[in-house]
Amino acid sequence: MNFLKLFNNTGLIAAHRGARSIAPENTLSALKKCAGHCDFMEIDVQLSSDGVAVIMHDDTLERTTNVQEIEAFKSRKPYLLSDFTFEELSTLDYGSWFNKEYESLLTLHDALKFIKDNNLYMNVEIKDMHGVFDDKQAVSTVLKEIEKLQVEELVIISSFRHEYLPMCKRMMPNIPTAALVEDEQPKDLIEHLKRLHVDSYNLDDVLVDEQTVQMVREAGFFVNVYTVNDSVRAKELFDMGVNGVFSDVSKIMIEELRA
Ligand code: G3P
Ligand code: MG
Repeated sequence: MNFLKLFNNTGLIAAHRGARSIAPENTLSALKKCAGHCDFMEIDVQLSSDGVAVIMHDDTLERTTNVQEIEAFKSRKPYLLSDFTFEELSTLDYGSWFNKEYESLLTLHDALKFIKDNNLYMNVEIKDMHGVFDDKQAVSTVLKEIEKLQVEELVIISSFRHEYLPMCKRMMPNIPTAALVEDEQPKDLIEHLKRLHVDSYNLDDVLVDEQTVQMVREAGFFVNVYTVNDSVRAKELFDMGVNGVFSDVSKIMIEELRA
């Protein structure tokens, strides 16, 4: 089944960065914990300095690794992920900041292998890496991993950097895509989405209004909203016609909404 078939159902709950309320975000533990407790999972991908696709949200390593404690990295402030090689990133601990337990770096390859082995669905968000990596390199590195593992049917690709999205469609037309927005909605929204050839419009909850949701749905696009941790709000959004919400507490939301 292609990822988009999920949207035949309403009220989808996506695990935002895995089960990030109970496990360190964007790690294999977070993916294992949300499996079975969400309709699909979401991860953030970016590239190491030597071009390996790794899973992390922030563009710096400070918040979610022990980089500041490592003597050899003391001079590497502001600890931009894109300044570190894959080998260097592999020496860091991605779990202790959250629950004192060591967690290794998650690569895109291992995240995709996990969904393949367990037949799960995943939203792969490509972080905005412009200015560091050429758009084509960013997109093709991610797509190559998807192609290598043959998980085209299990994924959707999203990005705040809209330039990536038509490139994805051109390179691998079978993979669905979503345009992410925060702060403000694009002018001429429907025309913009059409130009990008995306399947879905994924917006911040603060930007949502019923009229926009209806207009986007009527134009044939799916709508997903982040980040929603309250079941009452999720229900309101679903009643407006929103297809899915990204939540840090997907297990609780599913229990409350599908009781
Ligand atoms: O894809 C939804 C959400 O993950 C977008 O925001 O900053 O958490 O990646 P962010
Ligand atoms: Mg994300």
